[in-house]
Amino acid sequence: MRTKATKQQILFIALAVSLVCSALVTISTILLRPIQETNQQHYMHLNILKVADLLQQDVAIEKQLQQLEMRLVELTSGRFYEIAQPETYDPRKAAKDPKQSIALSPEQDIAGIKRRALYAPVYLTRDDNNQINKIILPIHGYGLWSTLYGFIALQGDTTTAIGMRFYEHTETPGLGGEVDSTSWLKQWRGKRVFDTNWQPAIQLIKGGVDHNDPSAIHQVDALSGATLTNRGVENLLKFWLGDDGFGPFLARVRSSGGSL
Ligand SMILES: Cc1cc2nc3c(=O)[nH]c(=O)nc-3n(C[C@H](O)[C@H](O)[C@H](O)COP(=O)(O)O)c2cc1C
Repeated sequence: MRTKATKQQILFIALAVSLVCSALVTISTILLRPIQETNQQHYMHLNILKVADLLQQDVAIEKQLQQLEMRLVELTSGRFYEIAQPETYDPRKAAKDPKQSIALSPEQDIAGIKRRALYAPVYLTRDDNNQINKIILPIHGYGLWSTLYGFIALQGDTTTAIGMRFYEHTETPGLGGEVDSTSWLKQWRGKRVFDTNWQPAIQLIKGGVDHNDPSAIHQVDALSGATLTNRGVENLLKFWLGDDGFGPFLARVRSSGGSL
């Protein structure tokens, strides 16, 4: 004989099922976190190599990364900061720690990042004469919906771009998300990021760059329908190449003739 479940029994079963499901979701999130973090780091490393045209097929990413000279830079002075294992330094964590970062005034904070870590990693390659010939700098700043994290790679002259790319953001696919499009990224090669007075000079041009304009060497086509992402990219580059970012370090590279 079938008996009808009471309202309490139905509620109890619904509650039990939802508790079990939420416990399963929580447990799998916790268990998957380390794998996710490893994958994120791997993707970031891949981007360090890609931005500077250094990626080799069939060689492990981590092995290729070890061939780069990774140093920490004290941003205000532009000097190298020596610590035992620079690869263990976490710039995002440092930027949240008042002891390891500075607060930026609204005038300084054109990248919308609020605080800037005291130290930042840089990745270098050198030629046969031990002169710096590639410089890879981490950059980040706010777009429309998210902070975009990426790298810019410069030649040893500190102004000629090899590439620029982001490895993390949540701008809208098809609009701001086009910062990842291969054709857009291609334009960055050979652009000069500084003007003749060594001021950051990159501009994103709405409607497209006029290649007959002498300023075209500093200009990249703006993404369409993404005014705020474009502004974010322009501003974060202005910040990280300027005096509050890597400006002092790049000036030291130049004055040393690449032999820092
Ligand atoms: C659903 C949605 C997503 C959007 N995503 C972006 C974005 O990722 N980046 C951006 O700059 N603008 C985005 N916009 C558009 C902005 O709201 C704004 O209209 C745009 O920056 C204007 O750009 P335009 O002058 O180049 O057309 C989005 C708009 C909508 C409705």
